[in-house]
Amino acid sequence: MRILGIESSCDDTGIAIYDSERGILADALYSQLSHQKYGGVVPELASRDHIQKVIPLISAVLEAAQLKSEDIDGIAYTKGPGLAGALMVGATIAQGLGFAWKIPTIGVHHLEGHLLAPMLAEPAPSFPFLALLISGGHTQIISVRTLGDYEILGESLDDAVGEAFDKTAKLLGLPYPGGPHLEKLAQNGNAKKFQFPRPLLHREDLNFSFSGLKTHVANVIHKTELSDENKADIAAQFEETIADILCKKMHRALLQTGISRLVVAGGVSANLTLRKALSALAEKEECHIYFPPLKYCTDNGAMIAYAGAQRLMRDEKSDFSIQVRPRWPLSELKAPEKSA
Ligand code: KG4
Ligand code: ZN
Repeated sequence: MRILGIESSCDDTGIAIYDSERGILADALYSQLSHQKYGGVVPELASRDHIQKVIPLISAVLEAAQLKSEDIDGIAYTKGPGLAGALMVGATIAQGLGFAWKIPTIGVHHLEGHLLAPMLAEPAPSFPFLALLISGGHTQIISVRTLGDYEILGESLDDAVGEAFDKTAKLLGLPYPGGPHLEKLAQNGNAKKFQFPRPLLHREDLNFSFSGLKTHVANVIHKTELSDENKADIAAQFEETIADILCKKMHRALLQTGISRLVVAGGVSANLTLRKALSALAEKEECHIYFPPLKYCTDNGAMIAYAGAQRLMRDEKSDFSIQVRPRWPLSELKAPEKSA
């Protein structure tokens, strides 16, 4: 089965073709630059950019895979959560093409896409597993029993990890989205010069809080001369703080659940310092750890094509009404009735 995937939930237009026998055949991504000068995503600009890019990208991906429209068996698009206007672009194109090509379509939950993206890597995890989902909008510890059966064990009470990266990066004068820039800056830093607080670590639950960290960094910056060296040292201590918090909570989650497979996904899972720290934890706890391929950590069409394929192969499909879910709790998802 060959599935065309369309991701348009925020500021990236991602298109890919997934073949259930051969894996990803082609993919393309357009990361919108129009938001940079505003220091954050402007929803109206995002929708306009998606409208311009989505069809040319679909043509480019079909051509790269040397396929024609009649070779596609289904279309998966991001139904939510995300920006309403941006989601509408993907949903409308998907339903329009599905109707014209007479093939089924499926609306995919964006976070299910992220959660399953590690299955595009080798070796792929098998169910059940414990997942740490760290993106620009979400920070969650999830018990994943099987496709569509997700229990949230803990989450951020305020900012998401990606948001904390982006806000701290902004304070350090780095461009949006700041996560990857902060990672680069931290490489030359001494993580031990500053010491930041680690909120909620003493608590037994699996929730996080990151907004105080940003305030703390703002205070440090206010009091410190912002030389290149200090900036790098702040970035390095910031990364170490996040790594510490994530590792402590994941350790607790592993002990509480007894699950020995760990999956880390979402945009921030591209961060190599965090990958290293979480891998060391997994090794110590004798767990297997899995990450998505680097290019499929941040928003992309491949994860949507893959997640959609899993559901289409189990005979799930949407009707041709154009619906999006800007707010859509992951826990509302259900396992497909039929097995593949
Ligand atoms: O999953 P994603 O592409 O979009 C959402 O669904 O939110 O995640 C984007 C987030 C941004 O906050 C971005 O700064 C962060 O992931 N990010 C990183 C890195 N790459 C992306 N954060 C830290 N280190 C990175 N290498
Ligand atoms: Zn995402």
